Amino acid sequence: MGHHYVPMATVQPSRIQYSQCVVLLVFLLQFSSLQLPSLGYDIQDKYFINCGSDTSVRESGKVYAGESALKTNFDSSYTASNQSAVSSPLYQTARIFGKESWYKFNTEPNGTYLVRLHFFPFPPPSNLSSATFNVSVPGFWLLQNFNATNATNNNSALVKEFYIQITSPGLRITFRPLPSSFAFVNAIELFLLPLHLIVDQVARFTYGISTPKLSTYNGLYSRVLETKHRLNVGGQTTNDSLLRKWIPDDTYLAYPENAHNSSPYNDIKYRAKVDSDGPNANLFTAPTDVYGTAKVTKNMSTNASDVEYKLSNITWSLPVEKNTDHFLRLHFCDFFSLQTDLTVFNLSIYDAHVMAVNEDGSVPSVLPTPYYYDFVVHSDDSGFMRVGVTPSASGYIHFAFLNGLEIMRVIESSTSVPPDPVDSNSKHKLLVVLGSVVGGLVLVVVVVALGFLWHLKLSKEKPFENSNWLPVLVTAGGSSHNRLTDLTSQGSPLPNINLGLRIPLIELQSATKNFHASQIIGKGSFGNVYKGVLRNGMIVAVKRSQPGSGDSGQGLLEFQTEIMVLSKIHHKHLVSLIGYCDERFEMILVYEYMEKGTLRDHLYNTTFPSLSGEQRIAICVGAAKGLHYLHKGAVGGIIHRDVKSTNILLDENHVAKVSDFGISRTGPLEHQSHVSTTVKGTLGYLDPEYLRRRKLTEKSDVYSFGIVLLEVLCARPVIDSSLPREQRNLAEWGLLCKNKGILEGIIDPSIKDQIDQNSLRKFSETVEKCLQEDGTDRPTMGDVLWDLEYALLLQRGVHGSSYSSVSTSLQLSNVRRLPSFSTPSEVDDSSKVLNPAA
Ligand SMILES: *[C@@H]1O[C@H](CO)[C@@H](O)[C@H](O)[C@H]1NC(C)=O
Ligand SMILES: *[C@@H]1O[C@H](CO)[C@@H](O)[C@H](O)[C@H]1NC(C)=O
Ligand SMILES: *[C@@H]1O[C@H](CO)[C@@H](O)[C@H](O)[C@H]1NC(C)=O
Ligand SMILES: *[C@@H]1O[C@H](CO)[C@@H](O)[C@H](O)[C@H]1NC(C)=O
Ligand SMILES: *[C@@H]1O[C@H](CO)[C@@H](O)[C@H](O)[C@H]1NC(C)=O
Ligand SMILES: *[C@@H]1O[C@H](CO)[C@@H](O)[C@H](O)[C@H]1NC(C)=O
Ligand SMILES: *[C@@H]1O[C@H](CO)[C@@H](O)[C@H](O)[C@H]1NC(C)=O
Ligand SMILES: *[C@@H]1O[C@H](CO)[C@@H](O)[C@H](O)[C@H]1NC(C)=O
Ligand SMILES: *[C@@H]1O[C@H](CO)[C@@H](O)[C@H](O)[C@H]1NC(C)=O
Ligand SMILES: *[C@@H]1O[C@H](CO)[C@@H](O)[C@H](O)[C@H]1NC(C)=O
Ligand SMILES: *[C@@H]1O[C@H](CO)[C@@H](O)[C@H](O)[C@H]1NC(C)=O
Ligand SMILES: *[C@@H]1O[C@H](CO)[C@@H](O)[C@H](O)[C@H]1NC(C)=O
Repeated sequence: MGHHYVPMATVQPSRIQYSQCVVLLVFLLQFSSLQLPSLGYDIQDKYFINCGSDTSVRESGKVYAGESALKTNFDSSYTASNQSAVSSPLYQTARIFGKESWYKFNTEPNGTYLVRLHFFPFPPPSNLSSATFNVSVPGFWLLQNFNATNATNNNSALVKEFYIQITSPGLRITFRPLPSSFAFVNAIELFLLPLHLIVDQVARFTYGISTPKLSTYNGLYSRVLETKHRLNVGGQTTNDSLLRKWIPDDTYLAYPENAHNSSPYNDIKYRAKVDSDGPNANLFTAPTDVYGTAKVTKNMSTNASDVEYKLSNITWSLPVEKNTDHFLRLHFCDFFSLQTDLTVFNLSIYDAHVMAVNEDGSVPSVLPTPYYYDFVVHSDDSGFMRVGVTPSASGYIHFAFLNGLEIMRVIESSTSVPPDPVDSNSKHKLLVVLGSVVGGLVLVVVVVALGFLWHLKLSKEKPFENSNWLPVLVTAGGSSHNRLTDLTSQGSPLPNINLGLRIPLIELQSATKNFHASQIIGKGSFGNVYKGVLRNGMIVAVKRSQPGSGDSGQGLLEFQTEIMVLSKIHHKHLVSLIGYCDERFEMILVYEYMEKGTLRDHLYNTTFPSLSGEQRIAICVGAAKGLHYLHKGAVGGIIHRDVKSTNILLDENHVAKVSDFGISRTGPLEHQSHVSTTVKGTLGYLDPEYLRRRKLTEKSDVYSFGIVLLEVLCARPVIDSSLPREQRNLAEWGLLCKNKGILEGIIDPSIKDQIDQNSLRKFSETVEKCLQEDGTDRPTMGDVLWDLEYALLLQRGVHGSSYSSVSTSLQLSNVRRLPSFSTPSEVDDSSKVLNPAA
């Protein structure tokens, strides 16, 4: 775009009244006054006009040029002013049009322009508020039978804003008074918008049929858009760098009791280039004030069987024109979660399901990244547009939010707009109407399918540069239709159950002093764990589900799974079940008592002495052996699904055993992948690929085990909300430090000096491999085991040790174990992930 010409606006009566002089205005605009960041876009072709005045005025940091050239050409009846009516000088003068008149702007072609018209009718005795008129650009009525009767209520002007695509030079804005009335305007702004702020093709959402659907809408560029609502959801009134005004959303909430404002997040970073076209937002899409605040659902939950969240939707009901296409843009920024895909929720329009938001790689793996979705929706005859977000059973945290919302009316071209008078040397049409809809559903389907494939590829390869995104594609080819139900949940009751392991309730009562509180060694959401002594003298851990929880299918299922898995497998690094009890409504599992508790108990917040570097590696080797056996052993094909430091138990010799198979998954894995709707596992250890694709493989265990390795190395919680954001999630922080070569800085100080450098290198390489984003890039448990054994050798080679190795300490006389359980602190972990409290 050339910058060499002088921006000009011609204010000219139409040919109907060519007795009037053609007036040429020259505006020398002060570019410096705009204070826009120079990031590839600067406001170009700028016109800021103080109509009806001969002086320039400054308003909100912008200079509006006066109409000095008009002074001698218009008599007083063509302007109006009232110095005392309003404080802003911009609104103290108005241009009056008694007849059809137009402004001509020398706009560069090929771009979307923003046009803003300001109307401020002075109070009586002025009669500006009685003016009734039309405003048009070629091919489009911007305003029809318009009056500004109630505009001045709060000493603020009525501002009408439009996005207009211009494909040939110049733009005329024509004011057409209705018969025996007149037109007026106080100020005009016109400038080119950044490339791709609006794109031609978006998704159309159709709701009024039995199955709501998304299709493709072509041709936003051949329409005009009129701003109806621009909401800073959960935030305050703010202005952005395109001088657009965002206002709070509260007055539009349908169920205010369901939602509250998040606390603001102050570190929004845009990850898309300035001229990118979504879905990732750039600097101009919406300001940080918008992405840094949100409305969030009050009842959040990590419990999928909790039903309250399903009703706690946030719904906005916004006045719009009836039965008209509207462009809808929804802004999201997940600054709540520590990992992508933890929170997935449903978007609805007119209470019809549109799509799942915040999942499926539509957002890059780095949080928080601002992004947006565009739709065209035909309003119904209620005069309102209803948009809602509802927590979904899918995802790990049942929660929903929205950061910003824009609604623009789609103005169709109209043949009733009189054509512009023909310029002497030009026959051009200013706006090219493409209009035509892509014919043939087959073609659309092919385009959509190809587009989706391309999108997938792009989002894989260039997570920050989604240059060809279409919301319709995300859903059309996305996750929802290839999700199967959780296979486990259809398991019939105890098919292969080993009845020989049954222990009478009476024996367990006597072993635990009738489940006396003094015997409790652990508590979890399911119930308590008791220490007990069986009649044969064996010390055991008795895990008793809360009486009655058996009828809620979930607990029973996990009970059955654990018995089935554990009664089939026996391995020195896996807990083996001593027995179970299902008498009456009890669900009791009996394990060996594990003297030294969980691995985590030895890492931090502990009274146990610190484990040496060698002990730590040896424990990891043991746990890796257990997991390797699960994956590839005699039974094989078992995915643990909940590998974490509290599920690795230590006996009196610090021999590690993997425990808690309640949510593990059996079945042949080589040929079949598991797809499930409900995410299970523990926050901080969840495999991002599993979250994203809901596809479970043994590589998910490898990922979780990588987190355990990191936890062992650093001796800190995997999620620590008291730390600065970048450090909160151990996985992110560990990898960041590894990449920067400063991993040593975060190693547990108590092993820093004793750990062999080569061993450390091997160990941390293993961590890094386990934590690869793509499961296929991760090693198998067998590889991990090999690497860890090598690290152990390196460690021993340097230091020697009196500590008996894992392999020599396996002759255990008895098998004692402490079953793991979800401790209250882990439940806290998950709730700490979200910080929306106002
Ligand atoms: C200007 O506006 C004030 C009200 O703010 C009104 O009292 C006054 O009459 C107006 N003057 C003219 C000349 O319209
Ligand atoms: C505008 O677009 C048309 C067709 O898309 C093209 O022929 C023309 O060269 C473009 N003009 C500019 C200034 O980019
Ligand atoms: C002004 O326009 C509103 C609609 O915006 C209409 O309801 C009202 O009747 C109009 N007033 C006059 C005086 O035409
Ligand atoms: C204008 O304001 C008056 C009173 O303030 C109200 O009765 C009327 O309905 C309003 N008209 C419109 C179109 O908003
Ligand atoms: C005027 O301001 C008051 C308070 O700030 C607000 O309640 C009212 O809705 C505003 N009216 C208009 C027409 O903007
Ligand atoms: C204004 O717009 C209305 C509605 O389209 C139309 O009927 C009327 O003729 C227009 N008047 C002028 C002067 O353009
Ligand atoms: C508005 O007032 C002006 C004088 O101030 C008068 O010339 C004009 O006819 C009036 N217009 C209408 C529509 O009342
Ligand atoms: C936004 O801009 C308007 C005028 O353009 C100005 O009156 C207002 O103070 C600005 N608000 C903020 C929050 O900057
Ligand atoms: C989950 O919700 C169900 C139903 O509200 C409840 O019975 C169960 O105890 C909850 N589980 C946890 C772990 O809170
Ligand atoms: C949204 O929430 C309201 C109030 O809690 C409830 O009445 C309504 O049924 C909910 N809508 C949906 C679709 O869940
Ligand atoms: C939120 O949960 C509380 C208690 O769990 C319940 O009383 C309240 O009704 C819930 N609110 C909504 C909107 O579901
Ligand atoms: C969310 O959408 C999915 C997919 O349509 C649907 O199965 C699920 O029931 C929805 N959840 C809620 C809470 O509406």
